[in-house]
Amino acid sequence: MTEAGARAPGKAILFGEHAVVFGEGAIAVALTLYFETRVRVSGGDETRVDGRPMDRKHHAYYQEAVRQAWGARGPLEITTSSSVPSSSGLGSSAALTVATVAALKAMRGRLSQEDVARTAFEVEFAVQGRASPTDTSTASHGRAVYIARDEHERHLWTVEKGGNRWCIHDLEFPPMDFVIGYTGKKGNTAELIERVRRACEADAGARARIARIGAIVEEGRGALARHDLVRLGQLMDENQGHLSALGVSSPELEALIAAARPHALGAKLTGAGGGGSMIALARDSKACSSAIERAGGKAFQAKIDREGVVVL
Ligand code: PMV
Repeated sequence: MTEAGARAPGKAILFGEHAVVFGEGAIAVALTLYFETRVRVSGGDETRVDGRPMDRKHHAYYQEAVRQAWGARGPLEITTSSSVPSSSGLGSSAALTVATVAALKAMRGRLSQEDVARTAFEVEFAVQGRASPTDTSTASHGRAVYIARDEHERHLWTVEKGGNRWCIHDLEFPPMDFVIGYTGKKGNTAELIERVRRACEADAGARARIARIGAIVEEGRGALARHDLVRLGQLMDENQGHLSALGVSSPELEALIAAARPHALGAKLTGAGGGGSMIALARDSKACSSAIERAGGKAFQAKIDREGVVVL
């Protein structure tokens, strides 16, 4: 094949961010916000991304994806489009990487979600220096995904790197309407992880909160399986309380969460925090979105994506 395209969903963490760094589980959901990549063998003498020569500074993920999934098979024309807001904690770099890897692999033959997830993780790892496979596995598999240290039922694949081990699982889930609120500010993930680490070193209360978030993840799995939206919302609110007490929320996030709650079953920050985005399990998506926008956020309505990466 000399031409192929693929799309992959963005994601939000529903439960367990930060606690997952300490070995607790986490639940991520793929969202109906997509990154799409098209690749074509080009007649030119260099690879171009959206019309510009590919370079390390602007196109690190593309460059690494091409290196790992295409090699030296010749210059390409890469074109992209996206409805995943970038730098917002919604997994845009993973969606980009998964879509690009899948398109490149599609030109060379058959591919599986697992194969794409593994290569995309290696690409993110090479570019970021550290990465968990949460985002790339969720963008590859879609749906709702449970990440844990050990294997449980509905196990999909296990990723190991640098002494760490992540077992990725599929989860059953009910139809849900989410509203994402983006603060417009980017939190510094490394700094926020360090803040939580220091809090846990200094304070048994902080350690107890991490353990409780781990328990919320397990309860969340049960609530998803039972299709118990009311309990899911309560668990989101409780998880937010712990994240806030651990120091990773922000005034902007708190404002969007407060605005969303009258129209939601629950709401919390999603991802590293300190800015970035919040997620609400909406009762009324329209009212929830309007309230978030009035409070200064950018709102995105989304459901859970059911397909993961798709070759177009
Ligand atoms: O902001 P995100 O979506 O990359 O999530 C970060 C989640 C943390 O638990 C804080 C870190 C991690 O790698 O799991």
